[in-house]
Amino acid sequence: MIRTLLLSALVAGALSCGVPTYPPSVTRVVGGEEATPNSWPWQASLLYTSNGNWHHTCGGTLINNSWVLTAAHCISSSRTYRVVLGRHNLDIAESGSLAVSVSKTVVHPNWNSNQISKGYDIALVKLANRVSLTDKIQLACLPPAGTILSNNYPCYVTGWGRLRTNGPLPDVLQQGRLLVVDYATCSSSGWWGSSVKTSMICAGGDGKISSCNGDSGGPLNCQASDGRWEVHGIVSFGSSLGCNYYHKPSVFTRVSNYIDWINSVIANN
Ligand SMILES: *[C@@H]1O[C@H](CO)[C@@H](O)[C@H](O)[C@H]1NC(C)=O
Repeated sequence: MIRTLLLSALVAGALSCGVPTYPPSVTRVVGGEEATPNSWPWQASLLYTSNGNWHHTCGGTLINNSWVLTAAHCISSSRTYRVVLGRHNLDIAESGSLAVSVSKTVVHPNWNSNQISKGYDIALVKLANRVSLTDKIQLACLPPAGTILSNNYPCYVTGWGRLRTNGPLPDVLQQGRLLVVDYATCSSSGWWGSSVKTSMICAGGDGKISSCNGDSGGPLNCQASDGRWEVHGIVSFGSSLGCNYYHKPSVFTRVSNYIDWINSVIANN
């Protein structure tokens, strides 16, 4: 036991991403559920200002002290954004949380908002100042370039999106366990067909749990064999028929397809 604890402390320190101080509860549940507070410490909320108020618009993932990964469709060049980190309940002041100004947004150059099924739904948000990592604010790991998860690999989508189609927006962070649907299945007829590309990852589609409006841009968290959590997906789109429509899994941008782009943006901005 002591040895295990020591080892995990060493691993957490050495790897410095994907190891939450407050571990998430990953028991099998049907339906989304409230997350353990601060157990997804890389989860960001992206807000924009309108009439002097800040509004949650999308989720995001802290992947570097200065950078948050989100979806391109979350970014509008005419808006002013900020990011909050270390949050559980968006409606109350929470100790250990942080609001950070955004100094620039970088949308993938191939993104076309009229052709979401072409992919490239990925953007990076640069924070105006580097954030210090704490027990409540930590980095997610990126998966190795090119990683493809197998069919039925269990992952967790997290966000402050609706609890069900047209349902209310929750104040506290939600998590939902989703199984990966491989490309062959997801792109077959009766599923998403040609709307899904190999640069995307599908998960869910059991008709019960899914991501929903307000989760956009947030992470699909999948645990690697060494225990670290990697952000494999960015919530991109779902069925217009409803958030948890049978055989219409949530579709995510596949992060492992964009590792070079992410690294070059971070290195050059
Ligand atoms: C964040 O990006 C900067 C700029 O490339 C780099 O120097 C730094 O090591 C990165 N931090 C982490 C924790 O990856």
